[in-house]
Amino acid sequence: MSDAEPAIIVHGGAWNIPDEAWPPHREGCLAAVRAGYAELARGASALDAVIAAVRFLEDDPTFDAGFGSVLGRDGYPEMDAGLMDGAGLRFGGVVGVRRFANPVLLARAVLEDGSHCLLSGEGAELFARERCFPECDPESLILDRERENWERYRREGFDLAEKFRRPRETAGAVALDSRGDLAAGNSTGGVSFKHPGRVGDSALPGCGLYADNRSGACCCSGWGEQIMRLVLAKGVVDDLGRGLTVGKAADAALARLGRFEGGRAGLILLTPAGETAAFHNTPRMAWASLGPRGEQAAE
Ligand code: GLY
Repeated sequence: MSDAEPAIIVHGGAWNIPDEAWPPHREGCLAAVRAGYAELARGASALDAVIAAVRFLEDDPTFDAGFGSVLGRDGYPEMDAGLMDGAGLRFGGVVGVRRFANPVLLARAVLEDGSHCLLSGEGAELFARERCFPECDPESLILDRERENWERYRREGFDLAEKFRRPRETAGAVALDSRGDLAAGNSTGGVSFKHPGRVGDSALPGCGLYADNRSGACCCSGWGEQIMRLVLAKGVVDDLGRGLTVGKAADAALARLGRFEGGRAGLILLTPAGETAAFHNTPRMAWASLGPRGEQAAE
C-alpha cells in the first residue's frame, strides 16, 4: 500500500480556442477536475476518478465529446473513448459509437470485461446493449451549433486544416490514487465532417493515451492522424520511464510532431510521484489540475 498523494489533471482540448469560448472551457475543466478529485479524496481508484472527470466533460456541451460532439460527414456524431489502467496495463475502448451519450462508461465495461481491448461501431453498441446501458437517439446529442457548422461544411467544403481553427477538441484525464495507481482516459467526437468510420487517436492505446504505474501517464489532444502515426502518448510515457522530466518528455513529443506540416497537439502528463503538467504547441489548451500543489488551470 503506497501513501501517494492523489492528483488529477484534465484537458478539454488544445486548439485555437477563441476568447468567447475560453471561459466555458476553463470552467468546464475546473468542474471536471473537482469531480475527479472528489473520487480520489474518498479513496476511489485512479480509474474511477478519470471516469468521473471524463463523464463530466462528455455531459458538458462545451467539449467535443458525448453531448455536443462534432458531426461527421453524414450529419451525426461518431464517438470514441478509451481508458487505461496503469497498474495492470488493462485497456478498454470503443470507437464509432452513435447511440450512447457516455462512451467512457462503455470503455470501462470493455476494460472490466477483459476479453477484448477495443470494440467498434455496431459491435460496441451490441456490447453496450447486452449490458443494459441506456440508449439514446443520436439526434439528442446534436447541438444547433454543430448542425450549423455541418451545414456550412456541406456548403463550403471542409479542409482538415480547418480543425486548427475550430474551438473544440477531445476531452480527457489522467489520475494518480492513494495506492499509487495511475490511469488515463479520453473521449471525443473526433474530427468535424469526418468520413463515416474514421477513428482517431483518442481511444487507441499508446496513441492518444497511455498509463503505466512504472513510468507515468499521458493523454493527447490534437490532430489524431498525426498523433497516431507517432504513437505519441506511449513515447511520452517511455521517456518519463527513462527519467526525463515532464518538460523534456513533452518537448521531445511536440518536436516529433514537427515532422508533419502544421503538427500541433497538447499533452497532459502525470508522473508516479504525482507531478502534473500540461504542454501544447497550439495557441491554447484548456486544462485543470488538482493535487498536492492545489488547484491549477490554464489562464
Ligand atoms: N484527437 C481527436 C481526434 O483526432 O479524433
